[in-house]
Amino acid sequence: MKVNVLLSPNNVDELYFTGKTSVAIDVLRATSVIVQALNNGAKEIIPVGSIDFAMKISVNAHGGQTLLCGERNTKIIDGFDLGNSPQDYTKGLVHGKSIILFTTNGSKAVVKAKYSDKLFITSFNNLSIVAEHLTELDKDVEIIAAGSHGMFCMEDTICAGALIQKMQSLKEDIEITDAAKASLVLNEQFGSNVLEMLRESEHGKLLIKNGFEDDLKFCAEIDNMPIIPFYKGGEIKLFKKNNI
Ligand code: MLT
Repeated sequence: MKVNVLLSPNNVDELYFTGKTSVAIDVLRATSVIVQALNNGAKEIIPVGSIDFAMKISVNAHGGQTLLCGERNTKIIDGFDLGNSPQDYTKGLVHGKSIILFTTNGSKAVVKAKYSDKLFITSFNNLSIVAEHLTELDKDVEIIAAGSHGMFCMEDTICAGALIQKMQSLKEDIEITDAAKASLVLNEQFGSNVLEMLRESEHGKLLIKNGFEDDLKFCAEIDNMPIIPFYKGGEIKLFKKNNI
């Protein structure tokens, strides 16, 4: 079993993922939102790559059963129901609903990896259960750090490193690429206090400046939502073993 980390999804094209087992990470905040929404009973998340497309598909959505969600420049988009703060995705609001999600980097990273044979979503909130499932699958894995505007970012790379560390604790002889090794080293160096690491990250600082400091605390929680979000046919749902 070999594990690679894509330090930015921009380094590859969509076809790169064909037939692969992939995991998408955008700690601040898209994949933390996805985990929270599904944990609170959302029916599905529909990740999209543009606001126009989000608007277009929401027109055909059943009134009341679909929420249009996401952010531009970290803030809620005009006409949308929710922004990108995980704790806004409460049971009361999202239970049983379909969520159309557009975000600057995270939803686009998921869409980019859509040709994967299997595509999972993780954040610090569900790290161990995803690591366990990946080691059980015993297939080569591509971890996609969503990054920021096509660039490397600390929090996604460190989360990738934490995921690999967990996998190594469960399975011997995992082969790792140079990028995976670098992610492990960064996690060893900066991952012991996740909240502090998020506060010191570029995007974390921007979120604090824009009034979203509480989101960082939420996104820093480890394994508080042991669920596996799984992408199939344009939708992210809770993974159930007999569904795939
Ligand atoms: C993204 O996809 O870039 C993020 O989730 C942005 C954010 O913090 O809302």
